[in-house]
Amino acid sequence: MDLRPEIVERIKLLDEKYKLMGQSLENYLDGLLLSNYLTYWDYTNVDKLLMLQTPKTDFPDELIFIVYHQITELYFKLSLHEMEQIANNGRNVLKNGEDKGWKDKLDKDFFVARVTRINRYFESLTKSFSIMIDGMEKEQFLSYRMALLPASGFQSAQYRKVEICSTDMFNLVDKDARAKFEGKEASIEEMYEHIYWKQGATELATGKKTLTLMQFEKKYSSDLIALAKEHQNKNLWAKYKSLSKEDQQDDKVLQALRQLDVNVNVKWPLVHYKSAARYLGNDNSDVPATGGTNWQKYLPPRFQKRIFYPALWSKQEIEEWGKAWVEEVRAKKF
Ligand code: HEM
Repeated sequence: MDLRPEIVERIKLLDEKYKLMGQSLENYLDGLLLSNYLTYWDYTNVDKLLMLQTPKTDFPDELIFIVYHQITELYFKLSLHEMEQIANNGRNVLKNGEDKGWKDKLDKDFFVARVTRINRYFESLTKSFSIMIDGMEKEQFLSYRMALLPASGFQSAQYRKVEICSTDMFNLVDKDARAKFEGKEASIEEMYEHIYWKQGATELATGKKTLTLMQFEKKYSSDLIALAKEHQNKNLWAKYKSLSKEDQQDDKVLQALRQLDVNVNVKWPLVHYKSAARYLGNDNSDVPATGGTNWQKYLPPRFQKRIFYPALWSKQEIEEWGKAWVEEVRAKKF
């Protein structure tokens, strides 16, 4: 049988590919002959995925709570994936699989495209958060949450990683402690001690940390500190600063970063806050959160004033951070 020229060409290319690595094409062709066809279920690991929901109670709505947290974690994973690519200037893989290595300079269009992707992930999360706000019966939620103590979304390590990979550590320091570090050469460890979410889960009067925070620190602090050190010069802000002065002023670049700041630090926190207000808020007395924070004072973006890119906002915009959205949320009765 005559082999078609396209087939012969590919076999030649494969032969070269394997020879380069000291491998034999014959053995790989044997492997191809013996291997099964790929199936959807093997590729997506769907059966395993559907085994990963283990409710702690028999309340049907608990499944919604678990699945939606998992969906969110997957979007966080994608966001971190894009950030990692930016951190490494984008990878240049040729069609034949040959890796041309890391580019030594970040390309502006690549930066914008990847930040835009992250914005899309967060916008999708913000839009779908009504699954949490309106999609569960309050009575069921208030019951099964008692079986989840002291776990809280507060303990999402990927959420913290998204923050760390987005900006300099200084911008994550609690707003009341920032002055202490202003213009000083502080270590990542020193600033990490004052990271905003630790303050949020610490009793101001006694300095006592919540159990939720202590468990989180024990499991993740060393990983988070290592990540922050690794990304000190390659977080999104550092990469932005590595662009030429002209590219830094490009509208698309500025828009993408400002959008990210609003998506991660205002819009998502607000829809999330809305869910806390819907389930835990009460005209007379608020229900304590599973993570033990003073959530009404802690969660609203206006109080946290967490801003990844303060240099891209005016003084007034910073002063009024999240205010417009908070008022919009407050105006609606839960
Ligand atoms: C009905 C739904 C939800 C309610 C009532 C709720 C409530 C809360 C509360 C009260 C806090 C403050 C910490 C504490 O004391 O526990 C918190 C923090 C947090 N939750 Fe949720 N949450 C909900 C859904 C989610 C979902 C789906 C996620 C996705 C992963 C999530 C992620 C987070 C994160 C990342 C924090 C920390 C926020 C920060 O430090 O600013 N939450 N949540």
